Amino acid sequence: MGIWRYDGSVVRRTEREHNRFTPVGVDMGELRGTHVPVLLERCLELLAPALGRGGRTVHVDATLGLAGHAEAVLQAHPETVLVGLDRDTEALEHARIRLARFTGRVHLEHAVYDELPEVLDRLGYPSVDGVLFDLGVSSLQLDAPDRGFAYAQDAPLDMRMDQTRGVTAEEVVNTYTHPELARVLRVYGEEKFAGRIASAIIRERERTRITSSARLAELVRDSIPAPARRTGGHPAKRTFQALRIEVNRELAALETALPAALDRLAVGGRLVVLSYHSLEDRLTKQALADRVRSTGPIDLPVELPGSEPTFRLLSRGAELPGEAEVAANPRAASVRLRAAERIDPQARGRTDRERYRRRVKAMHQPGTASATGSDPDPRQAPGDTTDEEGEGT
Ligand SMILES: C[S@@+](CC[C@H](N)C(=O)[O-])C[C@H]1O[C@@H](n2cnc3c(N)ncnc32)[C@H](O)[C@@H]1O
Repeated sequence: MGIWRYDGSVVRRTEREHNRFTPVGVDMGELRGTHVPVLLERCLELLAPALGRGGRTVHVDATLGLAGHAEAVLQAHPETVLVGLDRDTEALEHARIRLARFTGRVHLEHAVYDELPEVLDRLGYPSVDGVLFDLGVSSLQLDAPDRGFAYAQDAPLDMRMDQTRGVTAEEVVNTYTHPELARVLRVYGEEKFAGRIASAIIRERERTRITSSARLAELVRDSIPAPARRTGGHPAKRTFQALRIEVNRELAALETALPAALDRLAVGGRLVVLSYHSLEDRLTKQALADRVRSTGPIDLPVELPGSEPTFRLLSRGAELPGEAEVAANPRAASVRLRAAERIDPQARGRTDRERYRRRVKAMHQPGTASATGSDPDPRQAPGDTTDEEGEGT
């Protein structure tokens, strides 16, 4: 997610401005406005060893949006080719303008990110070096008066990121049964009053069709007991989040897309994920956990072929934004960053065997760290200071 204040005009930047690296929170050019890509510097830092290792590298921005992160990546890595995906055609148009100067290094694709393998096959990239997922809606979508994502503005209840296909939020609220509505609100919005809100929606639509975001926000507010309205932000926030996730099938797409993206990373390639709610972060944590753990028996001194971890975590649990980041960009407040790197299981296996031999030898020398039982697990990658369990949210 990033902050955009976009007035619709396209401006040209001078060559000098183009070539200057523009840090967080500064006018980034092509589109007149201020865009603050979330955790930009941290993302660049994490991706740099993978993208800047010499020769042509390929970076996938699975959620291109207004291309704030993508622009910074292309600027920092002149040899890198970008494959940018977005399901929102409007976002792609803005990105196209922003990235126009990187001629020959940019592929922009109208696709849902779970279509990544087909996109890469079509473009002829069997493997890639970097992948970024900056999940959720963009500020352009949130702020657009006609998209229906925001509870604070009145708009038709659409909420589709891809307005060329799919079911709208209006169809969901006017056709789902009570149990279906309550499940969506409870599971995707973690809404305690899901049942009451679903009942209010059903009552209202028996009277008249619900078509506007303002009317829905009002119904939600009136369904929540007054004391509960005073805590946890705007009372309609969780309902709108839940409907958006349902309309765009966000979690199903993410559940497929993360393993597919991990599969396509070359050894040394890196994945960075920015999540904005616990459901996204949980899926990310799980997808990474599946790759960083050995699947072999715990008591064997060496890894069985094929059971080695294939990734190592680069983040200790979920990284949170600093105070300065949140002050500059309030929408970054809920971000959780997780990142991982593909490792060579063979190289790691050799290292593990050497470390195991050293450990056994040390056990026969009294007074050593190993003899006192403080030697690390021989399966831990050398120099890996990451928390393989993650810390959850
Ligand atoms: C938070 S914005 C990305 C902002 C971007 N990093 C930037 O710097 O401008 C998320 C974008 O991902 C897109 N998106 C969300 N879910 C998607 C999916 N399943 N497939 C493709 N694009 C998706 C949205 O349309 C939105 O434009």
